[in-house]
Amino acid sequence: MKFLHMGLVILFIAYPSCLMVLSWFLLVRPLNLPGKWRYPLLAVYFAGCFKDLLTNITGGANVVAPEVSYHIVTWMSTLNITVIISLFLAFFIHLGRLFWKISRGGAKTVSFRFMYPVITAAALVLAVIGHVNAARIPEIHKYTFFDERFPRTSRGFIRVVQITDTHFGTSVGPEKARETVELVNRQEPDLILLTGDIIDGKPEQSREEVAFLKDLRAVHGVFGVHGNHEYYSYPEEWDPIWKSLGITMLENENVPLIIDGKTVLYVAGINDRQALRVREPGYEGPDPEKALRGIPPGMPVVLMSHRPGEFDKAAALGADLTLSGHTHGGHIIGLDRIIALLNGGYVSGYYSRGRSRLIVSSGTFLWGGFFCRLGIPAGEIVVVDLVPQER
Ligand SMILES: [Fe+2]
Repeated sequence: MKFLHMGLVILFIAYPSCLMVLSWFLLVRPLNLPGKWRYPLLAVYFAGCFKDLLTNITGGANVVAPEVSYHIVTWMSTLNITVIISLFLAFFIHLGRLFWKISRGGAKTVSFRFMYPVITAAALVLAVIGHVNAARIPEIHKYTFFDERFPRTSRGFIRVVQITDTHFGTSVGPEKARETVELVNRQEPDLILLTGDIIDGKPEQSREEVAFLKDLRAVHGVFGVHGNHEYYSYPEEWDPIWKSLGITMLENENVPLIIDGKTVLYVAGINDRQALRVREPGYEGPDPEKALRGIPPGMPVVLMSHRPGEFDKAAALGADLTLSGHTHGGHIIGLDRIIALLNGGYVSGYYSRGRSRLIVSSGTFLWGGFFCRLGIPAGEIVVVDLVPQER
């Protein structure tokens, strides 16, 4: 896999080396500690910066899903995020001290040795809060959309329930998977849509969590699409498992929803673009045109697209509702703006373009390798009622 070579260099060497150099200059060196304190401290920073290398040495060479317990993956991530937040805070404190010195003509400032415990404690507390938020049972977030073309069912409307970015294998354990499935079923869905990054790694890594997906209950079926993490994670091994769980994966294709012998709506799904970067030839990237091909004009369409960046194309092609994930709500306030920029301006919540609507879920859970939610929307299960009335 081409991606692996580039991913190995960036994730295991280049990025952590940058963090380590910054940690030395901004956090450790200014302390002027004697060797017997300095080296253990450097070892902790090394573990935090090189957590992907360390977890992969002990857990096989899957870049995004080392074969170790999700507890190890997520808590190593929290150590890594503590280092990142410490660096962020230290950068501004060093900058502030510099401005103070310049503006006071070289006058002494508060000692960094005094500031260091404050920075580190603050970073650790924030990272742990981010961890706890990320591991919470997801909230239910409801939307109601009106359109005279939406089908009238015996209950009067169609209820679609979306889960996404559960990242079973690196994120949470079987108990939370079971609770999540129960929460979904309690919404009494007509359709359940899984919009990608459901798993990480090999099937045996998340066997217990994934088994609960078989208990998902929806009147008209359970459908899914591959996210980027499915393409990192041996999709050929997963394909028969999705089938055995009763989940129909849509790969640039659509299926009709038939009620009383009449087609009333289409569910479509597109592949993730990572298919082209990490898999062998034969895997297709996203093709919204192909996914929507054959749908009669005017028929309501719900489209699953793991990445929200495909929404503009989907809207131009007439998708009524696009459901996405991938962004994890942006992880940390401030960082969410960068993640929005990388995803066509979409990061979480509701967007519209003409008659087309987009919901970007902040993720039911999120990837264990960056296990943090700080100042952004909670993990969610999205419930959408499609009501057949004029807008
Ligand atoms: Fe993703």
